[in-house]
Order: sequence, then structure tokens, then C-alpha cells
Amino acid sequence: VERALVSGQLAGQHWLVSAGPTREAIDPVRYVSNHSSGKMGYAIAAALRDAGAQVTLVSGPTTLDCPDGIERVAVNSALEMLAACQAVNPDGFIACAAVADFRPAMAAEHKLKKGQGDLNDVHWVENPDIVAAVAGAKRRPRWVIGFAAETENAIDNARAKRIRKGLDAILANTVGDNQAFGTDDNHLHWIDAHGDTDLGHAPKRVLAEALVRRIIDLAKE
Ligand code: CTP
Ligand code: CA
Repeated sequence: VERALVSGQLAGQHWLVSAGPTREAIDPVRYVSNHSSGKMGYAIAAALRDAGAQVTLVSGPTTLDCPDGIERVAVNSALEMLAACQAVNPDGFIACAAVADFRPAMAAEHKLKKGQGDLNDVHWVENPDIVAAVAGAKRRPRWVIGFAAETENAIDNARAKRIRKGLDAILANTVGDNQAFGTDDNHLHWIDAHGDTDLGHAPKRVLAEALVRRIIDLAKE
């Protein structure tokens, strides 16, 4: 019944979803990354498709198959993910990716050798904020929605993040200690300018559908 409710409501719209981790090269054989599995983003992409949207999924490295009927653009690094996201001009963007916050300023040309102290010489720079860049672009999508991965004070931190990044809404989730990263379940809070709603603890697929129903409501405002 819920599915039927959502069905077709996003027909004619193009949605962009970022998902998964990014990998930041240290040298030809090593990288820095995080525990994101991509499951939440892939579930959202599938739910948007089920609601009739055309969906582009910009994905960091995951073990997941691309859901049917979705165009996947595979990337590795945050800089590649930024370029891939900026290459589309969607009606809405949901930033689900766990973008690495830092990257080595330059990947070493050759494998770093132990005992030479090379690792201490790696110079780290902050990656661009992809969702904030899209939200602040001249051709901003009508809807820009982010996630907030927090290990403490999830709701308060997420509220501040939503405003700082210029987002229409943000989904707060608590990560760490086996929560969210890699699991099939999640607990999400939807936060927008009006307040926040607990979407509850549920399988990611179920939460993705609840999220898409919210988006449809938002789009009607
Ligand atoms: N995000 C992004 N580009 C980045 C970092 C984050 O697009 N370089 C997006 C994520 O996809 C997510 C939102 O921003 O939708 C929040 O990510 P999060 O890691 O929680 O926020 P940060 O701004 O990186 O803050 P911090 O990790 O320091 O809490
Ligand atoms: Ca971060």
C-alpha cells in the first residue's frame, strides 16, 4: 500500500544520490577511507526510482550491485565524486556518501617504505564539501538533502550542519559501535526548517521509502 502511494509521484524528475565511501590515495598501494557500505544510499536510489524518478547514483567503492534502472557513476576519491556530482543538473540531490574529510595533498609516486619515516611527512588537506558546493551553486537543485554522521549529540550537530551547508533537510544518524556503518538497519531523524521527525529504527530499505515519502511531501509544499 505504501509503495503504491509513492508510485509515480516523482515521474519527470531527475535525482542525484551520492553513496559509499571515498578512497584517498597515500601511495600506489594504500588509501585512507571509512566503513561506509553504501547500503543506505543504494536503498534511497532504489526508492527514488520506485517513485518514478530518473536516478543517477554517484558511488564510491562498494560491493553492492547497481540497482536495476539506475545510472551508476563509479568514483574513487572525493575530488572525483565532486566532479561527477557537478556534472549533473538534477532536480534533487541526496548526499549519502561518507566522503573522506582529508586527503594526502599528493599521493606518493612510489610505495612508502617502513623505517624511513615517510608516513609522518604525508601532508593532509581538507576535501571540498560536495553537498555544500552543490547547495551553494548558481544552478542549485531545487532540493538538496544531506546526512549527518555523528557519534554524539546527533540531532543538535545535524541541525547546525543543515544550516551551515545550506540544505533543505538533513538526516541525522548515529554511527560507530556497530551502528549505521555496514549494518542493514539504521535509525534516522529528519530535520528541516520546520523541526524534526523521528523516522525510527528500521531496515535501510524501509527508511529509504519513508524518506522518499517525506521528499514527496516536501515537493508539494
Ligand atoms: N559531505 C560532502 N562532502 C564532504 C563531507 C561531507 O558532501 N567533503 C556530506 C555528506 O555526504 C553528508 C553531509 O555532508 O551528506 C555531512 O557529512 P558529515 O561527515 O556528517 O559532515 P562534515 O561536514 O564532514 O563534518 P564532520 O565530519 O567534521 O562532523
Ligand atoms: Ca565528515
